[in-house]
Amino acid sequence: MKNYKIALLAGDGIGPEVMKQAVKVLKAVEARNPEVAFELNEALFGAVAYFETGKSFPAETIKICDEADAILKGTIGLNHEDSKKIPVDEQPERGALLPLRRRYNTYANFRPVYLPKELAHFSPLKQEVIGEGIDIMIIRELVGGLYFGEKEMGKDENGQRYVREVLEYDEGQIRDILKVGFETAQRRKKVMHNIHKSNVLKSSVLWNEILEEVAVDYPDVEVKHILVDAAATYLCLNPGMFDVMVMENMFGDILSDQGGGILGSLGLMPSACMGPDKSYYEPSHGSAPDIAGKNIANPYSMIGSVALMLEMSFGMEQEAKNLWHAMKSVFANGYGTPDLAKGEDAKLIDTDAFGDMVVDELNKAPRV
Ligand code: IPM
Ligand code: MN
Repeated sequence: MKNYKIALLAGDGIGPEVMKQAVKVLKAVEARNPEVAFELNEALFGAVAYFETGKSFPAETIKICDEADAILKGTIGLNHEDSKKIPVDEQPERGALLPLRRRYNTYANFRPVYLPKELAHFSPLKQEVIGEGIDIMIIRELVGGLYFGEKEMGKDENGQRYVREVLEYDEGQIRDILKVGFETAQRRKKVMHNIHKSNVLKSSVLWNEILEEVAVDYPDVEVKHILVDAAATYLCLNPGMFDVMVMENMFGDILSDQGGGILGSLGLMPSACMGPDKSYYEPSHGSAPDIAGKNIANPYSMIGSVALMLEMSFGMEQEAKNLWHAMKSVFANGYGTPDLAKGEDAKLIDTDAFGDMVVDELNKAPRV
């Protein structure tokens, strides 16, 4: 019998309603796999935690996360106006999410940009551009760079307001994420696109220097260099040229959202954030306060994050495949949440219905 403790951080906005679907799925997986038990421990995280406890990542939540085998996170953040009700340093992004990433050193962020051929109609790209579908793995460094560097705001001697933020990496951090890129490429098509901006940024110069050193250990992987701005263009013009893409934190933040764009929705972007000892899983999208509580959010990114957790933290590869297949089947049967179900013959379903249908489809797969 395997017992897994999972910390559930539903968060803000649409977080709780998409988390509810993830829990449905986890219960279904548990029922189908008699040798596995999940202990689900809910904890406050984000703005909701701040309003209840005065901290957006409270001690009680830290304890639950420390004790968990894996962490499943929903979404955090308020709209622009409501954010101002929280002191800058306790706002959920700075006060909860970045500290979570730092605490567990979840440096390797996997963001699959995946759209099988059957679902190609979701994409805003032309069919001839998509070809056989989109299947890219964006690997984003998640605990370094500008997001974690020193920050300062002030006034200079002329009374002008200024800001200073530091983009910092040491060679160990760069080496670690590049290794993840190479290893992932070895398991896939043995081609890795290195995304950088070495024509301007010295951080990219060092990055590329380390890459040359690391590459020696992976002679079977072909490295292709591309500047980040050009990569943004080619993601739209020819996504099929990419397989594994590796990059620093901010480049990855931006290009992965563009990944959601070429798929047709950020609702199709699950992710895995892997650290040396602990990993957490989250949709790549935000908390969408404008649609929160309406039961119309697409829970695919959240349920996909469960699939990544089954595979990457619990070694349940077959069940993860079954879950991907279940989600694909719901879409392939013509159903979709409002972000995707467009046009006259679209069969519109809500968040809850999507979760239920995924469970029904999952239960059609033979038990493991
Ligand atoms: C993401 C998000 C976060 C990030 C925000 C919420 C801090 O956009 O996970 O991509 O920028 O990393
Ligand atoms: Mn982002």
